[in-house]
Parts: sequence; structure tokens; C-alpha cells
Amino acid sequence: MSLRGDVCVLVSCVLLSLFSDVLSLTEQKLTGSLNGKWSLSNSNGSLWLPAQVPGCVHTALQQQGFIQDPYFRFNDLSYRWIALDNWTYTTTFTVSTQLRSKQKVLLVFDGVDTVASILLNGVVVGETDNMFRRYDFSVGELLNDGDNVLKVDLLSPVVYASERRKAHSAYRVPPECPPDVQKGECHVNFIRKEQSSFSWDWGPSFPTMGLWRDVRLEAFNVLQLLQVSSVPLYNSGLSSWRIQLELHVDSVQTTNGRITLSIPELDSEETFDAQFGPGKTKNGFTLHINTSADVKLWWPNGHGDQPFYCLSIRGSQDGILVLSTESKVYFRTVELVQEPIVGSPGLSFYFRINGKPIFLKGSNWIPAHSFQDRVAPAVLRNLLQSAADANMNALRVWGGGVYEQDLFYSLCDELGIMVWQDFMFACAMYPTADDFIQTVREEVIQQVRRLKSHPSIVIWSGNNENEAALATDWFNIPVTQKPVYLKDYVTLYVDNIRAIVQQEDQSRPFLVSSPTNGAESEQEGWVAGNPYDPHYGDTHFYSYVLDCWDWRTFPQTRFASEYGFQSWPSFSTLQPVSVKEDWSYSSNFSSHRQHHEDGNRQMLLQAALHFNLPNSTDPLRRFSDTLYITQVMQAECVKTQTEFYRRSRSEIVEGKGHTMGALYWQLNDIWQAPSWSSIEFGGKWKMLHYFAQDFFAAVLPVGFEDADTLLIYAVSDLSDDLQLRAAVTVYSWADPDLACTLKSDLLPVPGGSAVVILKQPVAALLAGCGHCTRLTCLLTFHLEDGGGEQHGPTNHHFLCSPKDAEGLQRPNITAKVEEDETGGSYSVTLHSDSVAPFVWLDVGNVPGRFTSNGFLMVTRSTTVSFTAWRPTSVAELSRSLSVTSLRDVY
Ligand SMILES: *[C@@H]1O[C@H](CO)[C@@H](O)[C@H](O)[C@H]1NC(C)=O
Ligand SMILES: *[C@@H]1O[C@H](CO)[C@@H](O)[C@H](O)[C@H]1NC(C)=O
Ligand SMILES: *[C@@H]1O[C@H](CO)[C@@H](O)[C@H](O)[C@H]1NC(C)=O
Ligand SMILES: *[C@@H]1O[C@H](CO)[C@@H](O)[C@H](O)[C@H]1NC(C)=O
Ligand SMILES: *[C@@H]1O[C@H](CO)[C@@H](O)[C@H](O)[C@H]1NC(C)=O
Ligand SMILES: *[C@@H]1O[C@H](CO)[C@@H](O)[C@H](O)[C@H]1NC(C)=O
Repeated sequence: MSLRGDVCVLVSCVLLSLFSDVLSLTEQKLTGSLNGKWSLSNSNGSLWLPAQVPGCVHTALQQQGFIQDPYFRFNDLSYRWIALDNWTYTTTFTVSTQLRSKQKVLLVFDGVDTVASILLNGVVVGETDNMFRRYDFSVGELLNDGDNVLKVDLLSPVVYASERRKAHSAYRVPPECPPDVQKGECHVNFIRKEQSSFSWDWGPSFPTMGLWRDVRLEAFNVLQLLQVSSVPLYNSGLSSWRIQLELHVDSVQTTNGRITLSIPELDSEETFDAQFGPGKTKNGFTLHINTSADVKLWWPNGHGDQPFYCLSIRGSQDGILVLSTESKVYFRTVELVQEPIVGSPGLSFYFRINGKPIFLKGSNWIPAHSFQDRVAPAVLRNLLQSAADANMNALRVWGGGVYEQDLFYSLCDELGIMVWQDFMFACAMYPTADDFIQTVREEVIQQVRRLKSHPSIVIWSGNNENEAALATDWFNIPVTQKPVYLKDYVTLYVDNIRAIVQQEDQSRPFLVSSPTNGAESEQEGWVAGNPYDPHYGDTHFYSYVLDCWDWRTFPQTRFASEYGFQSWPSFSTLQPVSVKEDWSYSSNFSSHRQHHEDGNRQMLLQAALHFNLPNSTDPLRRFSDTLYITQVMQAECVKTQTEFYRRSRSEIVEGKGHTMGALYWQLNDIWQAPSWSSIEFGGKWKMLHYFAQDFFAAVLPVGFEDADTLLIYAVSDLSDDLQLRAAVTVYSWADPDLACTLKSDLLPVPGGSAVVILKQPVAALLAGCGHCTRLTCLLTFHLEDGGGEQHGPTNHHFLCSPKDAEGLQRPNITAKVEEDETGGSYSVTLHSDSVAPFVWLDVGNVPGRFTSNGFLMVTRSTTVSFTAWRPTSVAELSRSLSVTSLRDVY
């Protein structure tokens, strides 16, 4: 809750914090960290072990060798007992007389997971019931001269949730339990805890317990700063900015002082008289920015830079400087535009950043590990950099996980990744008992105050899919009882969460749910008849049985906030958590890791629509080929769907369209298992993520067929207008040297638009290329300007399913690895004697990333680079490298 994560690093920020978050007459606040080695025991005392804080019980048990890797094979089932037991964390510490003599001493927990009684020297100082809250307890009078004993008694979250369910006897609050296939625990909606920790359709059940954030003592005489937030607001009438600064202060007594705010770079400075306390108070100040100054704006990735300014905050009492700190300020505006569209029923739904309509490109974020203490900064950096490098500009922090750590949002600020931030409620009805509402209120207040200074967050959203669950009756609620649930829904998300957010943060929009019809849902009493209506708001859409190559199956929505297909991670990711007998698609292990009903079969059914399924007689080869084919299927399906959304940005067809967002489900994985992710647990990119680099490119050619006519759209997210033509090359499956090309006329492609640039019956196209039929040829295409310069990636269009392709040979691909002259990076040069689709390079467990992968080889040779994330060598890479293409698996 301090400014640590936020300290400005600009050269222009010359002021360092004199006393980091100190505001007192003469003395500093004293802080004593209680992080480190605690001891941990279970309820009957059979287990005693050291435990790291921050941390959780599972991690401690593993570190001390009491359990294996919880992710290994079936260990999620074997270790179910851990969350059914109660656990106690204990630490003994001494404090200086100086600290004890302060007027106020607080025991602060930044995160307790979840239900606990806290005892200091045998006295209960407080209770907790919400993982998402910071708790502090006044403990001055309880501290001893010598040893102090601090105990945190944690109650089994599974038992607690079930007890709360029993106590709620008037009506059920569904779902009672997750589907059997998830092998999870029940009633997670009764506990304010990461909802996916009781299992999800992509993750295991590890209901964690522990102290998952910092623990410390804070002592002061007069007052202390709890939180600083700064939110820039733009007045379009005056064309001027102002910064709303809030100081949240805990004060022993009423204290007067003066606060000076300044941004020297913008020639702006103002001084205010301020009165703090007594108790916890919020003081607001407004710094007006000199209108003549040219304010540099924060832009989403791909639309500009992410500059910031240092806001200096100084506090003085009787002319003595007692506070000096600084806060990063990024200037940007965000509007969610919902207004009538000519030629279409319904309302638009798009984001305008700094006045510019922006197409949101990206994915959905889930917790990066079941055990949050394992989410190291490097893990976050790698995942978020991977998002930015795939040309994403947005991520939705999904409502069944956690409000992420500060670093997550700071990185998004720096990378230009817009965050759609859900509140942590997902796929369920929730109780509205007084104590539940009260703890949620505190959670929401704290999280909004903690996060609202981040420009990356562009929207708050109340929950994941709960409007849809209620509207489309996921839980078989009798019609007569529906009003009870509607009332609870409005109470929780509208009367409480929305009201608090609107009070605390006027700088960004709030949506009650996702998917939702937005303004239309509000009109319909907050729960629309059909929250999936493509004429309003956002949609989530999944179909595993319909042919994903057929764009007609996708809703032409205003905003696609969830859609996707599953795939398996690669063998090198599965290997450390499995043994030989697991390495088959039909093994118990393969079924066990699949948490989505019928998921393994669905992947093969979808793949079989267009590809021959692997049938090697070598069982291990067949298994790894099957993993590969699921990734090919997923990459091609999500590509097709995303390209459909991107090309729909400018048009209205039968009243639908003006799509302005494509966030596929899901970016990352929580463990090594099949899921909708594009990045495997551990950070390895699936084929889909390599494809995303292209299908999210700023300028993109999209090709598809409508009634046997080939259409190519030019999609541009640029600000500038271009003149482009489509260049199509027709290749023969049988022979890479047989090709003919066709170019369209130059056409204007306005910035921020999708336009038809080529329209040609397939028959005419093939007729122009003598030897070709649908079965013998395929197309690649790109966009180029009048000078012949290519804009955006080269794309492909298959005229038949590759399984029907005539002349497709098993290629002989040879690869040569060389170290680049600069060192640390390697090049892989491939030679192929025939056309090879979906060429996949895999270097096993050598972590790193290729520049391109899963590509179509229509030329005889190509070179890609590999950047390793640890030292490696040409020898190791050559040994590890395998090359697979479509024709190799059958
Ligand atoms: C103590 O609890 C552990 C873990 O729940 C259990 O395995 C063990 O049987 C218990 N011991 C006794 C003596 O009850
Ligand atoms: C955990 O604590 C609860 C509440 O005190 C108690 O009912 C339950 O029996 C305890 N569980 C175990 C395994 O001791
Ligand atoms: C605004 O900027 C101008 C030019 O730099 C300066 O003369 C003026 O004093 C500034 N006004 C304020 C209120 O800072
Ligand atoms: C798979 O699981 C079933 C049911 O648990 C068990 O009977 C069978 O022996 C297991 N098969 C293998 C190969 O482990
Ligand atoms: C594959 O290509 C390489 C290099 O061009 C060649 O040496 C080798 O004999 C070929 N293998 C087969 C099976 O054709
Ligand atoms: C694998 O499938 C292909 C295509 O159907 C077929 O030609 C081939 O004979 C099969 N191989 C085996 C080993 O069954």
C-alpha cells in the first residue's frame, strides 16, 4: 500500500522520498516487517514446519518435503486433505521500545487467505474473512518488552464455505458444486477468495490458505499515510487537465498542515491547507494543469507512447517539511461509447482513448499460478511482454481470479496494455447477507483506491457472466423464485459495487457484468432478456461442434470479450508432471488434466474437420503429434474468428457489426493441462500465440470466401490513411515452384478501418492459374503500397481442407542452427523440398521464443531466430530441435 512500486524514475524526478510515506511532526513512522520464516502446524499437531511469509500452506509443505510438487500427476486429488484441515501460522518477535512507545501501533496484513483469527500474545486482535482486503489492527497495548507471539489460526476454506451454505437455509445460492469433471470443492461463492481456487474448467482445486501478502507493524505518533492516488481528469470544454489527488491518512488526532502539489515539467504547482483526522480520513486535492503546457498523452500499445509525469507531493507543518513523495501520473481519457448506429438496431459499444476510437486486441488473464507466492516478477514480466509482443493492447483481468499485484498494473501502464478489470465474482449467484455485503464493500473501496491511479485500467466490470447466468437460467431457478435472485444481483453489483466505484472513481466507465448489453441491460432492470445480443454490449461465444473455419458461425458482435478453443500444451511442459504411462491421449492422466466436459474429444472432432489425425504406430510419437494437432486446430480456429471480428469493424451487415474488440479466451495457464490458453504454464508460446502476432498486427489482410467468391479486406488500426493493393499468390500443394500471382488495384485504406480490397470469384482466380483446382492449390496474400512495399504480415487461405489437399507431400525439412554474431540469439535455417503447412519448431525444455513458428513454408528455405531465456549452445539446440509439419503426423 505504499508508493514503493510507483517511485518515479524519470531523470526529471530529482526529488527522492525524504521519508517514504511519513507525515508526522518530528519523527518518522517506524515499520517492522514480520515477513520471513514463521512456523506452521496443522490442527492436531501432527505436522510442524517452517513456513515462509508471504506464502501459503501448500508451498510450505512442498518446500519442507512433506509433499511432492502439487502439480505432479494426480496430486491435486492426493492433497485434498490440506484444505480440509485447519492451520496455524506462528511467529515470535521482539520490538524496540522506540516502536512500542509510539502513540499508535498497527499490525497490518496486506493479504490473509482467508478465514482467520489473529492472536497476539494470546489475545484475539481480530478476524478476517476476505482474501482481497488489507486488514490492520491496533495492538500497541498488547506488545511486550520481550518476546511477542503472533498466531494466525486459519480455518479450512472448504469447511467454512460449506458452513456458510448451511447457515443460508432460506434459499440456495447456486451453483452448489462445480461439475464433477473439475474435481473441485463446493460453495466457493460463499467465501471471498479466488473463486477458481476451488477448481475451474482449466484449473485444479487447490483452496489455498496462508498469509499471501506482507505482514508488518506500523508505528507512529501523529499520523501516517495509507494510500496516495492520483487520477487525471480532462475538461473538454476548457481543454484542460486537472489531477485529483487523494491522501488516505490514519491520524491519532486532528492535524493541520499544508500540502503542495507540483508537476515542474508542466509548470504546475498549488498549495493547500489541509486538516487530517482524527481516525482514517480521505483528503482530496485538485491540481490544475497550466493549459498552455503541452501534455504528453498515454496511448495503448500500437497507438503511441506511454509517457508519464512525476507529481511531487510535499507536506509541511509549521514550515517544516514532513512529507515528500512522488507519484507517477499518466494522462489519458477513456470513454465507453454506447450510442445509436445508423442502419443498425441497438447501440455501439467501443472505447475511445484520448478521443480516438480504439479496437481492443488481446486476451483474458487468469491467475498465473494456484499459489500466488509463486507468481514472481519475472513471470509477470514475461507474460505481459508476450502479450505486448503479440501486438495486444488489452487484457481482461477475469473475475474468478485475484485483483493482481501492483507490479501487474505498473507493467501494463508501461507496455500500453489496457486492462478491463472485473471484480472478483464469476459464474455464480452470490449471497447478500449483511456481513457478506460489508466485507465486499471494504474490498471494493480498497481495490479501487489501490488501482485507480493506473492508466492501464480502462474499465471496471462487476462480475463475470452472472447477468447471463441469471438471464439464461444456468442454475434451473424456478420462475417464481427469480425475483429473489434478481434483487440479490442488483443489491450486490448495482447498489453496492457500482455505487462505490462511482463514488471513488469518476475517471473511467463501469459495467455491471460481462457479457452484458450495457446501457440496454440497465434499461431492462440490469438483467437483459438476452445479454448475448450482438446489437448491444459485449458477448462471450463458444462453440466446439460447429466448424470454426466457417465465419458464418460467429456472432457479428459489437465487442467479443471471450471466445476460444482448447489445445494441449507441448510435451516438454507436460513431461515434468507426468510419467511414461501418462503419455497417451487416452491415459488416465490425459483425462484427469482435462477439466472441461468432453474437451479432449471435442478437440479431435474439430481438428478432424480439416486435418488427418495423427496415427503414428509409435505411441509416444502419436501422443506428441496429437498435442501438435490440437495446437494447429486452436491456432487456425482463433485466427479465423479474430480475423472475422477485425474485418467487421467498419461494416454493418443485416444490422450487425461495428465490432471494436477481440479478446480471446485465454492468455495464460495456471498449470500444465489442456486449456484455451495461448501461452503454456512456464511461458512457452503455443502456436496460437505466434499466430496472434500476425492476426493482431496493426495492418492486416484478411481473406475469406463468401459464396465461392474470395474477398480480401485490408484492416488498419493506424491513424494514417494508406493506399494499398492485395497481392495474391496461388501455390500448388505439390510443387513450391509452381505459382502465379494476381494484384488488385490500389485503393484507399483509411486509418482505423476495414475495407474490401479484392473481390474475385474463386473459379476465375483458379482459371487464371492453369494447373490449379481447389484441391491442388492454396493461396497466400499480403498488402502492399504503390511502391511495392509490403504492409503487415503475409496471410494464407486454404481452398480445401488440408486433409483433402492433392499433392501435399511429406516434406524433407532440414534445419541448421547457428549462433548470431551478437551472441545469445540463434538462427535456425530451414530447407524444405516441398510445401509444408504449420511448420513447428520445438526445442523441448530449452526455454525461449522463436521469432515465428507454426508457419506455412511455400518457399524452399526460410530463417527464424530463437532467443533463449537461459544460456544454451548450438549443440544443445541442435540436439533438442524437432521440426514437425502437418504431413508428418499421418
Ligand atoms: C492429524 O491430521 C492429519 C492431517 O489431516 C491426519 O493425516 C492424521 O491422521 C491426524 N492424526 C491424528 C492422530 O488424528
Ligand atoms: C477446524 O476448526 C473448526 C472450527 O473450530 C472445527 O469445527 C473443525 O473440526 C476443525 N477441523 C479439524 C480438522 O480439526
Ligand atoms: C503557466 O505557464 C506560463 C508560461 O510558462 C507561465 O507564465 C504562467 O505563470 C503559468 N501559470 C501557472 C498558473 O502556473
Ligand atoms: C485408470 O483409472 C482407473 C480408475 O481409477 C483404474 O482402474 C485404472 O487402473 C487406471 N489405469 C491406469 C493405466 O492407471
Ligand atoms: C533430405 O534433404 C537432405 C538435404 O537436402 C538430403 O541430404 C537428404 O538425403 C534428404 N532426405 C531424404 C529422405 O530425402
Ligand atoms: C495414417 O493415415 C493415413 C491417412 O489416412 C494413411 O494413409 C496411413 O496409412 C495411416 N497410417 C497408419 C500407420 O495407419
